[in-house]
Amino acid sequence: MKLLIINGPNLGNIGRREPEIYGHEDFDSFLDSLKKEFREHEIHYFQSHHEGEIVAKIHKATEENYDGIILNAGAYSHTSYAIRDAVAAIGIPVVMVHISNVYARENFRHENVIAAKCKGVITGFGLKSYELAVRSYAV
Ligand code: DQA
Repeated sequence: MKLLIINGPNLGNIGRREPEIYGHEDFDSFLDSLKKEFREHEIHYFQSHHEGEIVAKIHKATEENYDGIILNAGAYSHTSYAIRDAVAAIGIPVVMVHISNVYARENFRHENVIAAKCKGVITGFGLKSYELAVRSYAV
């Protein structure tokens, strides 16, 4: 399968950002090991701090013939109707992931305005959340 991982704002420095919450492993080396673990899939990666760029990339994914998107929209998960509408507009299944368990954190993180348009949500398993999301495409 051709899968696209999209990471939203503040997710470019995982490993250094609040490591007590997000862990010490940097995303690039995690991504390398993920690609090696799932050689049967073609896994691509996009990260942006900008809402509009994320919306544009979600739409472009249809032209780029992706079979699935794994989306960690970061703080936009709690606020972005624009990303929600983009997810709803495309025919590609989107699995939302969070590294941390958002339900064990501040109240504002309990609301997710995008999740209802996703195939499912995986939250709280560290970077393993992405691995579980890749596996979910085999189900
Ligand atoms: C996050 C959780 C969000 O609440 C937060 O704003 C992030 C990361 C996670 O992966 O745990 O940036 O999406």
